[in-house]
Amino acid sequence: MKGQILKIFKRKKGIVSGEALSSELGISRVSIWKHIRKLQGFGYNIIATTTGYRLIGSIDALFPWEFPDRESKIHFFPKVTSTMDIAGELARKGCPHFTVVIAGCQKKGRGRLKRIWHSSEGGLYFTIVLRPQIPPVLSLRLNFAASLVLAQLLRQMFCINAMVKWPNDILVNGGKISGMLSEIEAEADMVSFINIGLGINVNNNPTPKEPTATSLRSILGKKISRKQLLSKFLDEFETCINNTVFDDIIPEWKKYTTTLNRRVKVVTSHDTSEGLAIDVDENGALILKLADGSIKKVVYGDCFHI
Ligand code: BTN
Repeated sequence: MKGQILKIFKRKKGIVSGEALSSELGISRVSIWKHIRKLQGFGYNIIATTTGYRLIGSIDALFPWEFPDRESKIHFFPKVTSTMDIAGELARKGCPHFTVVIAGCQKKGRGRLKRIWHSSEGGLYFTIVLRPQIPPVLSLRLNFAASLVLAQLLRQMFCINAMVKWPNDILVNGGKISGMLSEIEAEADMVSFINIGLGINVNNNPTPKEPTATSLRSILGKKISRKQLLSKFLDEFETCINNTVFDDIIPEWKKYTTTLNRRVKVVTSHDTSEGLAIDVDENGALILKLADGSIKKVVYGDCFHI
């Protein structure tokens, strides 16, 4: 109902009478008034006049009703430990494919290899629960699809040179704008869920502890609508995984990567290697040529361009 009321405000612009809202939505004027009070409590600037209500300005809110086409599968929390924790619980309880858990900020945001992902207000932090009918070996392709879609979208929306760094970071002019973490559970050699968590530095100030991090606001010199970015990302990512031939994802991702043909250091949970990044295989593993000429495949880790 809140989403429908906001939609009417946006369509009609100006003052909308309680009567008009009540007859269009088929609920009493008292119920309308109660919903308006709730919306005001959520931060919407709605004023009551003698002739009706008026919504002033817009807020960059990420409440479920801001995504009307997918409202029932969106979960928003102003503050959580980590969206990965909530998404994991929902997935184990059987939530549907493409459930999305969004947080305003995270107290214990997680990065790859047990790093902390600093998650202050203004950034975009969300985890998508996916239930693809694929064996676990193919699952990393979904991470590559998500980073590819995000890089393409950032280029298209903001005309910036977004590139992907293996495995799934997004860099703009060498600064990290986004990172991705995924968690998978499988049964009998079939994925039961893959949770893909993305952190995007939008209007937040990335922590000084990550000197290579940057944000969309600092690149573009203005605040960006997180809601618009997330809404477009979810639409494009869903379309991509529903329609794209899985075999095409990594070749397409390679067109946008800064990692290949350069010297890199790759840290995994058990070792560190240095070499020339020569390829990414069909399942997303990075192929390194080491100093002694031998070839090493790394499936998962952190990559530093040197
Ligand atoms: C990395 O680059 O190390 C990965 C960062 C992933 C951060 C996102 S924010 C949303 C989701 N929840 C988390 O705790 N982590 C991921």
